[in-house]
Amino acid sequence: TVGKSTNIVWHDCPVGKFERQSLLKQKGCVIWITGLSGSGKSTLACAVSRELHSMGYLTYVLDGDNVRHGLNRDLGFQAEDRAENIRRIGEVAKLFADAGIVCIASLISPYRRDRDACRALLPDPTFIEVFIDMPLEICESRDPKGLYKLARAGKIKGFTGIDDPYEPPLNCEIVIQPKDGECASPTAMAEQVISYLDLNG
Ligand code: PPS
Repeated sequence: TVGKSTNIVWHDCPVGKFERQSLLKQKGCVIWITGLSGSGKSTLACAVSRELHSMGYLTYVLDGDNVRHGLNRDLGFQAEDRAENIRRIGEVAKLFADAGIVCIASLISPYRRDRDACRALLPDPTFIEVFIDMPLEICESRDPKGLYKLARAGKIKGFTGIDDPYEPPLNCEIVIQPKDGECASPTAMAEQVISYLDLNG
């Protein structure tokens, strides 16, 4: 979207990112979890947050469903609204990372272009894209909120994976896949993310 504000000037604050990082003894980053509805994004986000918190790191979870209760309550699920949802969450996540916090964003974010735009907001390697590669059949069989059933019955239109597309990442940092049709436990999935963070400083 093109900015509508004109005659605006950026003000730098004397307390900068590096000072905040040294105060918190951590680096801010964005862990962006994408995947179908019911793939386990929120569960993974909470498990990563819980584990990092217990290790002494400050984290914050931005969950699509939750942010849609407030900041993004004006948005629906058409492509433009999803794009705006993702853009706003990307901008907020960037602020959290700048504050020195490990920000975990979990939202379907079905379109590659929107995720890539969020990645472009952050310097390398502070945007870590995690794809939960859970097949539609598994997500649909779980159907924790009964939404797939409603979508199949035509009671929800434009449901991701049913009659709205999901574009899997081509080149993300972490892919989480079920093994032999079994999903790993939330703790095991969180470990996969945390060992990536460890290895990459
Ligand atoms: S998006 O695509 O990134 O803007 O979506 P997100 O903000 O993550 O919101 C997804 C949750 O909204 C519920 N929901 C739908 N999902 C997909 N398609 C349609 N049409 C839809 N309508 C409502 C659903 O509960 C999603 O939650 P999760 O946690 O993904 O199951």
